[in-house]
Parts: sequence; C-alpha cells; structure tokens
Amino acid sequence: MTDTRPIGVFDSGLGGLTVVKEIQRLMPAEKVVYLGDTARCPYGGRSDETIAKFGLQDAQFLLDMDIKLLIVACNTVSSVALDYLEHTIKSVPVIGVVLPGARAAVLRTADRKVGVIGTAATIRTNSYKNAMHCVDPGVKVYGKACPLFVPLVEEGLIDSDITRLVAQHYLYDMIDIGVDCLILGCTHYPLLMEVIQGTVGTRMQLLDSALWTAKEAQDILTALNALAPKESDGHALSRFLISDLTPHFESLAESFLGRPLPSVEKLALEELVK
Ligand code: DGL
Repeated sequence: MTDTRPIGVFDSGLGGLTVVKEIQRLMPAEKVVYLGDTARCPYGGRSDETIAKFGLQDAQFLLDMDIKLLIVACNTVSSVALDYLEHTIKSVPVIGVVLPGARAAVLRTADRKVGVIGTAATIRTNSYKNAMHCVDPGVKVYGKACPLFVPLVEEGLIDSDITRLVAQHYLYDMIDIGVDCLILGCTHYPLLMEVIQGTVGTRMQLLDSALWTAKEAQDILTALNALAPKESDGHALSRFLISDLTPHFESLAESFLGRPLPSVEKLALEELVK
C-alpha cells in the first residue's frame, strides 16, 4: 500500500528546511508541505504558553492540508509542547526533533558526557536530557542556552569574527567539562557547524537532529505502509509556505535547504491565528 498525501513539516522559521533536505534525500518520492512561521520567529525566547499556542496553530494549519505525518521541525516547540501536540492531535502521527537527536547522541558518546546547546526555552525544559535519560540514565548531560546564535545566523553573520567570539563565550564551558558529543539543539545551529567545530576542536562530535528525524519519519511511514509511490516526484510536488517574506529569506532558505527554494507561497498570519 502507498499513501500520496504529503508529510507536514513546520518550524518557527526557515531552519526546519534542514529536516526537509534530509527527507528529500532519504525519500525523494515524498511530497512535503513546509510551514515556516517567519512572521513570529523567533519562538525561542517566548513563554511556554505562547510557544504551545503557536505550535498548535502551525500544526492545525498543516492538518487542514490533509497530511499523513506531522513533523515538528523546531527544537523549541518540540521541547516545550510535543507532549501537548501528541495529546491533542489524534488523526496523524506526530514526531519532533528532540528524541531522534537524543537517541543518536546516546549511541555516539564514548565518555557518556553530552552537551546540548539550544534556545533558552529548549534548555529550560531539559528536553534532551530527559529524552537521553529514558535511553541511558547514566549519561551526563550539560545544557547551555545560546540565544545570540539565531540572530547572528538570521543576519548572515556565519563566517565572522563576532560569531567566533560569541561561540567562544558560549562553548568554552563544554570544553572544560569534557563533553565528547555536542547536540546542535536548534534548527539554526547547523549553519554554524564550522565555527562551532573550530571553537570546540575536532575531538568533540557535533550532532544535528535533522538526519535522525528524517530517518524516524521513514521508519514510521514504512511501518504504516504509508510511503509515497516510488515513481512520484516529491520535489516537484512539495510546497513551501511562510508567514512573512523576511529580508534575507531567500538566501537563508537556500543555506538551510542546500539549494534555492523552488517557489514560496506567502500566507497571511490570520490563516494561522484562526
Ligand atoms: N526553530 C527554533 C529552534 O529550533 C530556532 C528559532 C526560534 O527561536 O524560533 O529552536
């Protein structure tokens, strides 16, 4: 059996396109509907209540598009509100980015010392720590909020001295502690991979959840016999919707997706806030 309905993916902005990139690499036949709430990004410094409310609005918008699986490709929403979304949404499976990344980290850490960096909300919830402890309660987990990384990426300050200084400021603790695996627990951080690796040294493995999340989506669709027909062209059929055409959206989207966005549809914020 096959299922031609799209996979719904949302993020507070464009960073969730890293998950779309991995889905398209692993499952090229799958059609994706991507929602990036660029009008209200960033979510990471907001209250739990607001993050949960925005997350449910984003999810509801995609559910109305007849999706077969919902991927919460935002670490902040996955950390604060995944349980709430799973509890509220019964029509399709819901997955976030935290659990797949946490599982991968437990498998990779030789010294059983893992660092997690993310937005203030992601670190406040201890979501990665809790997820890792479900797999291995003995792993030591150290979290650090890095709130300046998102605006630096949004400004295109990727390979710059100011970003290197900020990285040193945030990450020297991780070197002192001696973590051997560092989870990039925010959609924007993979773009800073080189700066981060240059700061912490090559002994520390960096881990980005996007690939593991796409793998989990593939496992779920396979188990449900709900993969798209092999002959379909997922790239051509996918849709990308954003709630604001922000200044650098085209170049940012290209950095996250690894290629230019084929076409983008602007939706009015009122379509989310119903
Ligand atoms: N998408 C968010 C995350 O992965 C980063 C941007 C934001 O703060 O909304 O945590």
